[in-house]
Amino acid sequence: MLMPKPTGTVRQISTQISGYEEGKSKFPIYDSHPLGLAEYWYPVMWSRELRPRKGVGLTLLGREVAFFRDGGKAYAMENRCPHRGVHMHPAPCDFPGTRTCPYHGWVFDLKTGALRAALTDGPDSPVVEKGNVKIRTYPVEERNGLIWVFLGDGAPPPVEDDMPDEWLEPNAVVTGRITERAGDWRHGAENGYDEGHVKYLHRRGVWTFWRRAPAWGWSAPRISEDGKALTRDLVDIGFGAEFPGLGQWPKKNWWRWRPGARGIRFRLPCMLRVQYRLWEHYEWYIPTKQGYHRYVQFICRRAGPLGRLWHRIKYALYIRPFFHNQFNNQDAWMVENMTTPPEILYRPDRAMQSLRQYIDDNARGVVAEEDRRERYPRQQPKET
Ligand code: FES
Ligand SMILES: [Fe+2]
Repeated sequence: MLMPKPTGTVRQISTQISGYEEGKSKFPIYDSHPLGLAEYWYPVMWSRELRPRKGVGLTLLGREVAFFRDGGKAYAMENRCPHRGVHMHPAPCDFPGTRTCPYHGWVFDLKTGALRAALTDGPDSPVVEKGNVKIRTYPVEERNGLIWVFLGDGAPPPVEDDMPDEWLEPNAVVTGRITERAGDWRHGAENGYDEGHVKYLHRRGVWTFWRRAPAWGWSAPRISEDGKALTRDLVDIGFGAEFPGLGQWPKKNWWRWRPGARGIRFRLPCMLRVQYRLWEHYEWYIPTKQGYHRYVQFICRRAGPLGRLWHRIKYALYIRPFFHNQFNNQDAWMVENMTTPPEILYRPDRAMQSLRQYIDDNARGVVAEEDRRERYPRQQPKET
């Protein structure tokens, strides 16, 4: 008898990921959104990947979405022809501003999604004349060399509302890496904001080799000065200690002299920002189907033309291979094999719990505007 091949990691089956016990959740909104929060703009691919002659099909937030470029502009629609349900993204362009389903030649308007013709039924096709056949379209914008899409049911806010402020500056340059990862998007977000793992998991690797890494510590949750993000302030920190009955840890770290990251923020729907001296690292964990996400990582730096060119070179030769690839693959390794609940938490996990609470308190489209709240005190501006 043929036995099924082992598939490796068991993916999340229930939608709950927090808590000591299945069925008991302190964060009902968070735990019931395995496919993410829809009422936000997401940066899903590079503009340069969307070419005029070739549509792109992506799974995002549990939806199949087809992207097209026509007349220089980007469009998105449900990736399913309403006739017999085939994918739309391989659709050719027979008439400007439209795409034709590759199966029986139904022609859809890119802007409205309306059926304009059914080529194989003649110009007087009754299914077209009825005027009620259409594909759902989604709002798309292009900023910083990226395609942003809004998949929600409500009215989309300006895309700038969901973009990091630094990206809107005229001299901003954004570089990055986009990959598909196994793992629930919330495990990705929790790992990004997780306080303890940086001090252990990431001790080894080129990116952190020279960096001064604390051995232990924990923080208190705060709302960022501008009110837009969740952040945290250090409560206690140590660079080494004698552990009773075991000995000193870490053993030696005299070669670590470079400062590490300077601050971390989480912003809805799932955007992490890590502040370095001259630039910031950003990442989104965009759910695709349950248990998987599209991991998009960026660096944004503001500089003049020469500085921007230097940044691109530095990104390609150093930041991308050692930070976005090697360092963050350590995270991918953890995220893809994480299964919770149950879980037993420790002091540094207060950061992770605050993230879950922040989403439960503020998720757009789920929590009414008048009910959103700042549960934690605001961070005070730093003295310069
Ligand atoms: S399935 Fe699209 S035209 Fe038939
Ligand atoms: Fe990490």
